[in-house]
Amino acid sequence: MPVLGMLRADFAERQPFAGLTVACCLHVTAETAVLIRTLTAGGARVHLAASNPLSTQDDIAAALAAEPGVTVQARSGVDRATYYEHIHRALDCGPDLVMDDGCDLVNTLHEDRAELIDRVRGGTEATSSGAARLRRMAVAGSLRFPVVAAELSDISRMIDHKYGTGQSVLDGILRATNTLVAGKTVVVAGFGPCGSGIAERARGLGAQVIVTEVDPVRALGALMQGFRVLPMTAAAPLAELVITATGSRDVLAAAELAQLSDGAMLANAGHFDVEIDVGALADLAVEVNRGVRPHADEFVLADGRRLILLAEGRVVNLVAGEGNPAAVMDTSFAVQVLALGWLAGTQREPGRDDGADASGGRVLAVPPDIDARVANLALASLGTRIDTLTKEQQRYLESWQQGS
Ligand SMILES: NC(=O)c1ccc[n+]([C@@H]2O[C@H](COP(=O)([O-])OP(=O)(O)OC[C@H]3O[C@@H](n4cnc5c(N)ncnc54)[C@H](O)[C@@H]3O)[C@@H](O)[C@H]2O)c1
Repeated sequence: MPVLGMLRADFAERQPFAGLTVACCLHVTAETAVLIRTLTAGGARVHLAASNPLSTQDDIAAALAAEPGVTVQARSGVDRATYYEHIHRALDCGPDLVMDDGCDLVNTLHEDRAELIDRVRGGTEATSSGAARLRRMAVAGSLRFPVVAAELSDISRMIDHKYGTGQSVLDGILRATNTLVAGKTVVVAGFGPCGSGIAERARGLGAQVIVTEVDPVRALGALMQGFRVLPMTAAAPLAELVITATGSRDVLAAAELAQLSDGAMLANAGHFDVEIDVGALADLAVEVNRGVRPHADEFVLADGRRLILLAEGRVVNLVAGEGNPAAVMDTSFAVQVLALGWLAGTQREPGRDDGADASGGRVLAVPPDIDARVANLALASLGTRIDTLTKEQQRYLESWQQGS
């Protein structure tokens, strides 16, 4: 992770987080460990809880917990109550800053630990579903500190969601099934950055890809990129593999599940495990064979059709695979850590809900200069040089007097 490596060296010198405490709720993986070390190099004390018990790598949790300035509350496979208990323990530190992935930590802070909020200068949110929750909190007037949403970064949308998730979701599905994608009909629900990346990669492997959407602009975009676009009720009977990536719920509900053909495989790439109605699937089934392969359960319907649910309907690339490749997390975490440094610099006063830049209680985009800095570091790490504007070109682009 060369970009974080370069930031770590810079932070070690500048100490942007000196004296600050950061509560994090993130996937406890090797890549996150590199992020945590970047924060501690910059002077932060870090209290980490897991954002998904199924993705926790216990050896990483143990190694991080042994490092100075870090506490870890995470164990693979814990139940829901323990998951929230861990978030509470991470919050016990009374954080100055927070890093979240799915908004569970920020939500817990607002719902149950409001006494800690005045101290918080701001936070970052890693995922689109978390940012959507934050926006609903902001609209309701409930969000009490600024949160920078990584999804509002050009780098994250392009590298993380489109190329990273696009590749790792197919990788997770292949590890769980070892299926041949070429020639299969793959239905991708949602054509946001994640869905479009998944659709492109599935097509690259030789699948016939059908896209379902509810947004007319994105549906049109999918059509213009050569994908077939259908409503789910029309797509489901054709599907051999369905991948949901919408951030919404019940995309595959009882009616659509009942239409699937024998052998159809179902995978979810969205953040929460609500996109495939797993309860409805269990109700439809007369027999369930768990673990026909690792991370694959077989549901047998009354007429003998078998449907294969991957990763229990949870986020397939993290459960059945290793999530995004380290190179992807390198740029995503670099964006988030620089955004956190920017928020640390706002010096929000206790008791005020507006930061120095009056951005309190809002979901903020990543400042463009942060994206540009991360892109420059990533290009440098890849040994790629690019052109720069000449003074004349700069003047031309800034002027409105000059035309043809
Ligand atoms: N698996 C991963 O590693 C990973 C990485 C990043 C984001 N995510 C998650 O993936 C999901 C999608 O992310 P995104 O950045 O593409 O989000 P997005 O919100 O930009 O795109 C989602 C798309 O789904 C569409 N949609 C909503 N409901 C639908 C429905 N019922 N049927 C069909 N389409 C529907 C929306 O119109 C939108 O175009 C989110 O839950 C996000 O948190 C997962």
